This record gives sequence, C-alpha cells and structure tokens, in this order.
Amino acid sequence: MDSRVTVINHPLIQHKLTIMRDINTGSKDFRELLEEISMLMCYEVTRSFQLEDVEIETPVCKTVAKTLTGKKVGIVPILRAGLGMVDGMLKLIPAAKVGHIGLYRDPETLKPVEYYCKLPSDINEREMIVTDPMLATGGSAADAIQLLKNKGAKNIKLMCLIAAPEGIKAVLEAHPDIEIYVAHVDEYLNDHGYIVPGLGDAGDRIFGTK
Ligand code: URA
Repeated sequence: MDSRVTVINHPLIQHKLTIMRDINTGSKDFRELLEEISMLMCYEVTRSFQLEDVEIETPVCKTVAKTLTGKKVGIVPILRAGLGMVDGMLKLIPAAKVGHIGLYRDPETLKPVEYYCKLPSDINEREMIVTDPMLATGGSAADAIQLLKNKGAKNIKLMCLIAAPEGIKAVLEAHPDIEIYVAHVDEYLNDHGYIVPGLGDAGDRIFGTK
C-alpha cells in the first residue's frame, strides 16, 4: 500500500464496519456506528499533532505536562454523507471548526459545480480534514480538495470509511501531497459506481432515504 494511505484496521473498527455493511442494519444503528468509527479513526488521524510543555499545578504539586500546541483543525464533510463522520470527530476535537462543501458534476462539461461552500475564514492556518465515508471514483474528494487548496488550505487530510482502489489512485494522482485514512480498502467499483462489497449508498443509509 502507498505510504500516503493509512488503513486503520483496529479490531473494534473492523467489527463495527461489518455491522454497518450488513443490509439488515437500520439507519439508527448505521449512524451510531459511523459516529463511533469516526471517533476511533480520528484518534489515528491526529497522531502527528504536536505537543508542547505547560506548567500546571496538580492537587499534589507543580509539574510540567504535555498539551497540544493549539494547532487549529477544520473538519470539512462533503455533503451529504460526509456529515455522518463529523460528530464523532467533534467529540475528540471539540474546538474544531466545521466547513461544508456540496458539489456535483455538470453532466455536460463534467466539471465540478460547487452548490454549497461555507468554510472557516482561516483555513490556511488550519489542519483540514475532509470527510466522506465512501471513496468511490475519487472525483468528489479530489474536487473538494482542489476547492480547499484554491481557497488557501495548505494542510489537508482525507478521511473515509471505505475506499475503492480506483478512488485512492485518482485522489493521489490529483493531489500527491494528501494523506488518506480509511478503515478498509474494498475490491473494486462496479458499473453503477458502487464500491464492492461496500455498504450501498452511505447517504441513503445514514438519512433513511432511498
Ligand atoms: N457512494 C456510496 O454511498 N456508496 C458507494 O458504494 C459508492 C459511492
């Protein structure tokens, strides 16, 4: 596997992902499991965050202990399924700001059209984490990352639940500077653009639409 891709194959994540894949798992459980997995993945995605020393006083004595350097984080779900990964991350990084990106491809020009974009004002100073549960063709993720770069973001990671090999390749070709975090790399994309074996349409399963 490419060194820019981290597969977080912790047993708890893999167990929960199997339940999410099951066609008999309903929206309530699906949403809760996605939130839990996102929280567990966030632990790994933030592993490189820097620490610094601070002087504090415990009830026993004065000491020097570690604290995060205050690096600012921005979470950017790609609408709509990416929303399902935000709350789990906010549980671990409550000070993160959340931006939103909505994109579709113009069927004639095949160019990405941004129908919604609202981002924190200082994305150039933030560690930006783009979330989308299913990295299928990689088109939306690559377009969303390009949009963030155009607006000044310098430090971007992509966090997905399941990736198709085709999606990983497309994103890394478009953005060689990006790190991708996934819980599982599946087999392939079928002719309808679904990841196989996958879990179906993540947005529909989160929001109970069909
Ligand atoms: N988006 C989904 O929600 N599921 C897939 O399998 C592919 C793209």
